[in-house]
Amino acid sequence: MKSIQVGLLGIGVVGSGTFNVLRRNQEEIKRRAGRGIEITQVADLNVARAQELVGPDVTVVNDARAVIANPDIDIVIELIGGYGIAKTLVLEAIAAGKHVVTANKALLAVHGTEIFAAASAKGVMVAFEAAVAGGIPIIKALREGLTANRIQWIAGIINGTTNFILSEMRDKGLDFAVALKQAQALGYAEADPTFDIEGIDAAHKATLMSAIAFGVPVQFDKAYIEGITKLGAADIKYAEQLGYRIKLLGITKRRQGDATKGTVDGIELRVHPCLIPAKRLIANVEGAMNAVVVQGDAVGTTLYYGKGAGSEPTASAVIADLVDITRLHTADPKQRVPHLAFQPNAMSDLPVLPMGEVVTSYYLRLRVADETGVLAKVTGILADAGISIDAVLQREADEIGIEVASGQPQVPQTDVIILTHDCMEARMNAAIAQMQALPTVLEPITRIRKEELA
Ligand code: HSE
Repeated sequence: MKSIQVGLLGIGVVGSGTFNVLRRNQEEIKRRAGRGIEITQVADLNVARAQELVGPDVTVVNDARAVIANPDIDIVIELIGGYGIAKTLVLEAIAAGKHVVTANKALLAVHGTEIFAAASAKGVMVAFEAAVAGGIPIIKALREGLTANRIQWIAGIINGTTNFILSEMRDKGLDFAVALKQAQALGYAEADPTFDIEGIDAAHKATLMSAIAFGVPVQFDKAYIEGITKLGAADIKYAEQLGYRIKLLGITKRRQGDATKGTVDGIELRVHPCLIPAKRLIANVEGAMNAVVVQGDAVGTTLYYGKGAGSEPTASAVIADLVDITRLHTADPKQRVPHLAFQPNAMSDLPVLPMGEVVTSYYLRLRVADETGVLAKVTGILADAGISIDAVLQREADEIGIEVASGQPQVPQTDVIILTHDCMEARMNAAIAQMQALPTVLEPITRIRKEELA
C-alpha cells in the first residue's frame, strides 16, 4: 500500500527530530502502522535550512497553506507553536479534511473546545500526545490505558525547566536567579523563560490532562497558576529538614462537595510550588525530567516518568500519533477514541473550583521578632481559624544567616516554620492576613502548599 503522506509545518528542534526518527525507524514503524508513513512536504520560513535538513527528495516551501492545499497530504503536523497563526492553520487544515498532529499545548489548552468541535464536525482527528510531558505517553495512558477508572487526581512535574532550576537550588543551595541563569546557559530555559518559570506552560498541560481525566472542556482560564520565581533557598532547606522536597506541580483533582460544610462538587485545577514527602518516588525526579502520578479508583496509583522535552523524545510522541492516525483514519469516526477521552455529547459540566475553595495543607514561614509570646499569638490565630497544626520548627537568626548591618539596632529575629493539616484556602488566606498584621511578624509570610500524594 502507498505510504501515508504527511506535511510538516515548522522544522525546528521537534520537527527535525520527527523527520529523523521517522526515517531512521521507517521499517519498524511501517510494520507497526500497516503502511509506510512519509513526510513529503515541509513548510518553513527558512527554506534553505529546511531543505538541507530533509534532503532533495522532500519538497520544502515557505507557505504553510501550500501544504494544507496539497491533495496528496493526509496528515498535517503543526509544530509552529503559539495561539496566533498556528490556530488559523490548524483550523484551515481541519477544514481541508486533514488530520492534525500537534505539540501545541498552549493552543489546545486555550482553544481546544473550538478546535476539537471543528475536527469532530469534519470527521478528522487532532492528536496531541506531544503536547503534555513530551515523550511520556501520558495522553494515551489517561485516555485509553486507564479508561476503566474513575480518576481521582493527577499530580505532575510537567515542566522540565523549572524542575531543573529547583533541583539546582536544592543540590547547590543556589538562589532562584542564579539557577535560572544556569538553566539558560545549558539551553534548558528559553531566553524569555516566562511561560516556564511562571507556571503557564505547566498549566497548559494540566488543563489538557484535567479535561481528559474528568471529561470536562478545556478551561485554562480557570486554572490557578503560581510559578517558582518567589521561592527562596531557605524554604527549600527548611522543607528538606522537615522531610519534604519542593516541586512545581500541576494538580487536578476531583473534589466531592459536602453540604454540611457548604462545599460543592468540582474540580481543582492548579499549578504551584508544592511540598511533597521526600520518600515519594515523584519527589526524587530531578533535573529536567518529567513525571506524572495518576490515581484511579481501580488501578490505584500509577507513575509515568521520562523526558518531557527535547528533539527525539518529543518526536517519539508525534510519531506515535502519526501511527495511531494511520491505523484509524479509515475507521468510522464514531468508533475512534474521542479527542478528550469522553464522547463529546457526554461531557460533564463539573465546575473548576475557585482557589479559595481548594482544600490542601500548608507550609508557612514567618520571620518574627524573637520575643516572648510571638508563637502563642501566631498559633492562636490558626486555632481560632480552625486550622490544625501538624509540625512547628524554629530556627535562630545565626542558623539562617540573617545579616544585620553593623551599627544598626539589632532586633533578635527567628524563622518560625509551621506545617498545617488540610484546610480551605480561603480560611488560610484570612489567617495569613491576621498573622501578617502582627507587629512582631517582620516580613511577608511565605506560604507554600503541601500535598501528601498518598
Ligand atoms: N519548556 C517545556 C519544559 C517543554 O521546560 O518542560 C515544552 O513544553
